[in-house]
Amino acid sequence: MALLETKKISINFGGLWAVKDVDFNVEPNKIVGLIGPNGSGKTTFLNIISGIYGRYKGTSGEVYLDGEYILGLKPCDVYKKGMSRTYQSSRLCWEQSVADNLLVGCYTSQDYSLFDSIFRPKKVNNEIYDQLDRALDLLSTFNPKLVDRRYDLAKNIPHIDRRRIEITRALLSNPKLLLLDEPTAGLNDEETMTMMDGIKMVKEKMKGSAVIIIEHDMQVMEKVPDTIVVFNAGEKIAEGTYQEIINDQDVIDAYIGGGDEDE
Ligand SMILES: Nc1ncnc2c1ncn2[C@@H]1O[C@H](COP(=O)(O)OP(=O)(O)OP(=O)(O)O)[C@@H](O)[C@H]1O
Ligand SMILES: [Mg+2]
Repeated sequence: MALLETKKISINFGGLWAVKDVDFNVEPNKIVGLIGPNGSGKTTFLNIISGIYGRYKGTSGEVYLDGEYILGLKPCDVYKKGMSRTYQSSRLCWEQSVADNLLVGCYTSQDYSLFDSIFRPKKVNNEIYDQLDRALDLLSTFNPKLVDRRYDLAKNIPHIDRRRIEITRALLSNPKLLLLDEPTAGLNDEETMTMMDGIKMVKEKMKGSAVIIIEHDMQVMEKVPDTIVVFNAGEKIAEGTYQEIINDQDVIDAYIGGGDEDE
């Protein structure tokens, strides 16, 4: 059984089909790349499956996570069911430390109550430090030097490391499915490759998690994803291995020939 299964997912914004009739499956433990020109519906697709549009009436179709119907749930409920994500633009709290930003990702696994916070501060402190150790261990897979910067404010951390913090934060809930919306946005070519390698390493640590990763540069997709899905104008136009995708005429016409890879 697929971990994620969507059937004919569509969304219409006042006459514009941002996503149309998309069937999209992700098998457990796989990395699926999602690629397509600007405005082709990649982010909107992630927004639908992660609950951002909730019960918005322009949405139709079916979404199943691990066999359970989830379309229409709120983002926090989708998260609790085992899907977490990052965003195309940074969602860190700039004035908070790296450690505090990471701890947000431990929210679902916290085991203390308000009563504990007031009357058993030692228990709460111990739990928070245990969670932070786990978070830093995962973060160090990307960049061990970041552990020493755990009390620095997020705004003082380089862009690539902020991206790493966001991915680590999303992984701390042990998601079944992790959604990464352009984790390489704003990185140069070398940083992009380093980031993709890091994602692969961190994924290997998180056994059982599957990943959907959006990227706009086809070449970046060569090594990491198991399969690639291509969107154009809201529709899925191709699906296959990297070699199959780069030789697909529809993809060449719509995407590679489209000449919009200027983001
Ligand atoms: N809330 C909204 N209201 C109206 N139109 C929207 C909304 N969200 C997205 N769209 C439109 O839906 C289309 C798909 O947008 P989307 O952001 O999903 O594309 P994308 O493939 O992620 O593009 P990019 O590569 O630039 O990130 C675009 O035409 C966009 O303007
Ligand atoms: Mg997008």
